[in-house]
Amino acid sequence: MRDAQPSTIYLSDYQVPAYLIDTTELAFELGEDSSLVTSLLHIRRNPAANQLGAALVLHGTELELLSLAIDGRVLTASEWSQSGEQLVIADVPEAFVLRCETRIRPQENTSLEGLYKSSGMFCTQCEAEGFRKITYYLDRPDVMSVFTVEITADAQRYPVLLSNGNLVATETLTDGRHKTVWQDPFPKPAYLFALVAGKLSCVSDSFRTMNGRDVDLKIYVEDKDLDKCDHAMASLKNAMRWDEEVYGREYDLDIFNIVAVDDFNMGAMENKSLNIFNTSCVLAKPETTTDAGFQRVEGVVAHEYFHNWSGNRVTCRDWFQLSLKEGFTVFRDSEFSADMGSPTVKRVEDVTLLRTAQFAEDAGPMAHPIRPDSFIEISNFYTVTVYEKGAEVVRMIHTLLGPDAFRKGSDLYFERHDGQAVTCEDFVLAMEAASGVDLSQFRNWYSQAGTPKLSVSGDYDAEQQSYTLNVSQSCPATPGQSSKAPFHIPLKVALLGEAGQLPLQLLGESANVESADNTEMVLNVTEQTQSFTFTGINELPVPSLLRGFSAPVKLDFDYSREQLLRLMRGDSDGFCRWDASQQLGLAEIKRALADVAAGQNVAPDAAYLAACRDLLSDGSLDGAMVAMMLQLPSEAYLAEIFHPVDVLAIHHAREALRLAIATALQLELLDCYNRCCSDAPYAADAEQIAQRSLKNTALAYLMLLDNESARELATAQFENSENMTDRLAALNALVNSAAPYKAKALQSFYQNWQHEPLVINQWFQVQAMCRLPGSLETVQGLMNHPAFDIRNPNKVRALIGAFCGQNGVNFHREDGAGYRFLGDQVIILNRSNPQIASRLLVPLTKWRKYLPAAQQLMCAELQRILAEPDLSSDVYEVVSKSLQ
Ligand code: PHE
Ligand code: ZN
Repeated sequence: MRDAQPSTIYLSDYQVPAYLIDTTELAFELGEDSSLVTSLLHIRRNPAANQLGAALVLHGTELELLSLAIDGRVLTASEWSQSGEQLVIADVPEAFVLRCETRIRPQENTSLEGLYKSSGMFCTQCEAEGFRKITYYLDRPDVMSVFTVEITADAQRYPVLLSNGNLVATETLTDGRHKTVWQDPFPKPAYLFALVAGKLSCVSDSFRTMNGRDVDLKIYVEDKDLDKCDHAMASLKNAMRWDEEVYGREYDLDIFNIVAVDDFNMGAMENKSLNIFNTSCVLAKPETTTDAGFQRVEGVVAHEYFHNWSGNRVTCRDWFQLSLKEGFTVFRDSEFSADMGSPTVKRVEDVTLLRTAQFAEDAGPMAHPIRPDSFIEISNFYTVTVYEKGAEVVRMIHTLLGPDAFRKGSDLYFERHDGQAVTCEDFVLAMEAASGVDLSQFRNWYSQAGTPKLSVSGDYDAEQQSYTLNVSQSCPATPGQSSKAPFHIPLKVALLGEAGQLPLQLLGESANVESADNTEMVLNVTEQTQSFTFTGINELPVPSLLRGFSAPVKLDFDYSREQLLRLMRGDSDGFCRWDASQQLGLAEIKRALADVAAGQNVAPDAAYLAACRDLLSDGSLDGAMVAMMLQLPSEAYLAEIFHPVDVLAIHHAREALRLAIATALQLELLDCYNRCCSDAPYAADAEQIAQRSLKNTALAYLMLLDNESARELATAQFENSENMTDRLAALNALVNSAAPYKAKALQSFYQNWQHEPLVINQWFQVQAMCRLPGSLETVQGLMNHPAFDIRNPNKVRALIGAFCGQNGVNFHREDGAGYRFLGDQVIILNRSNPQIASRLLVPLTKWRKYLPAAQQLMCAELQRILAEPDLSSDVYEVVSKSLQ
């Protein structure tokens, strides 16, 4: 909680640390009321710091300081002072051993940062600045130290005691307690420290590395979850192999542990050799976990594993460089997932997240570059911008360099900086040095916020047989950045002729030829306006633009419906095919809005319906692609298109259009549904996932008709499915219908799964996302359900987060009750868990997008939160910036 106005930290103020900590010895005595932490820090003045006589300033929060000693001599109270988060020792030798004893209270720690208890076990979360809640330290990522950790605890309650690195000693003590000692040979910043103590069981396996070393792999979970570890273990081994093959990176210790905990603010954490995971990102089995859940486990396990190189061996100099490890690691995990499943589906999913959440962030009050230049609370900068846009920036480097030069660049980066804490600039320098590609202008992606807009038009000159693309770029102002320099944008293009892609011959040199047959190119867009002329074009082509979503921009090209239909039917680029379907869908929604406003029936365009019909009927197409193309642009995406956003009008027009499509295509939908039913035993592979996704898309459309036969399908699917994907899809369809059976379905679902918290979270979420009127009251009722617990972030996300973030029509109720509800919850969570409070608050910060009446109500809630006493720095930063 803040004392005064929290202060802003600037990248430009960065200074190297005045002191270094070569080795860190920690001893934990874990107790039922409180725990004791004794640290021995081998400190010396940093020769690079050049600040002679500087005081030693350590970070610490909410610690009870018991004693301090330097080289064995206990310090008196006059030799140190404390203010805010700082402990200052004015007079210290060149090099010395600092001994410090603190008492902490993990049992009372509800922020889930530092050392805390979750379902009876002790665990830690130190990124970004949680270590200072454990003991006084130089809690900054450029201070790297070799850690030895001794853990003492009751042997019955906490039979498993884990920390980073290798187990070097165990001891049974006489008083029913026991002790383990761990040593991590790799110097690391404190944010990668971890400790776990609890009653845990484990699944073991092993992995032989490319150099023939055997690594012991263990996943620690509660006993009841032992049957849900196979997928995470298989994913881990796939990730280890993939990182060897694709990046040449071998694992560097003989053990790798994963621990699952119930109460966790984020997805998972890459602590050196002791990854700690939210149960939702590690546990999976077909009966309890959806396809999306399986994919999330695979992706997060890989992400945390990949951090061992991109994050741990080479770490960040300061937290402004967060995207150095996160952007790169997200790029790595998304390429991994693409390789494990369907690359196009993965790409479309990533683009969808970017175009909704990230574009919204970039257009809102918290907009920041992937390398921010200031912050109040670093926890607020674990964002879709730093992660997902950061990954897009790395992907663009990959596109500009090509795969081989990119690999040389990553090899050079790891070789140059192994064991160091570095900057985004160091990453770019390595990429430039290895490839010879000049990335000077490209660096604007690191320093400028906002989503660039590319406006493109095409001119065909039949006489010259040439086709010219005229490209102009612009980028809206963002907080603190009123005008922007042009970006270096890789624009991947092809030209479609009647008989396929045309060979590309560009006048001038500004492109990298990509495809072997010369029909795809990456244009280097670097100017505000620029033209690219292709010669030898003997027919009017349809341009296929931004292939693979080659840059995180908004593209504008005035396609005709016929051109879009052609792209949707025949483009060889999966992303562009899907995007054409979305542009057609958008046009339909715009017409539906006008029809509804004029009191007319919504009637989809015949050619659009015909295209959907073809998609449904062609069994040879990839089911997942078909499912994605049949879905209209989401309300979240539409909220980025319309200004202002009339949530209710958009919702009702979109629903009316969906119903019209379902009515027109019911036979095809039913055929498609039946074709996709299968009795094959469940597998989370691309083919089956595609089939289920298409089947459940068809079911959702059919259920809009809400007739007896559709209800029967959904009911039968709900009752007979053996996997959670199909069961939950059926439940979701029922809950959003008027079927009387839905109450019974919800009840029996609860009865069957009440002992599986992750399944109950899905049950909460389905109800929180129900589009029908009355969802707010349902959610409020569920907050009193015995299975709900506001201390558990997964439950908060499932119920409050899903309602406020993904149920537009109910959250934006005209009476403002949705906004008030969120305001109330943020105020409660601000006290117990500020990180969760400030994340939950995001939908309110977007108030400027909506109609005046909504704006006023949303603002009032923000004002009410701002007026709260004891606002955390997390919530303060988000609320105050969004009101500016
Ligand atoms: N570093 C973690 C990841 O991206 C995320 C995280 C951040 C987890 C902060 C906890 C706290 O993998
Ligand atoms: Zn990460």
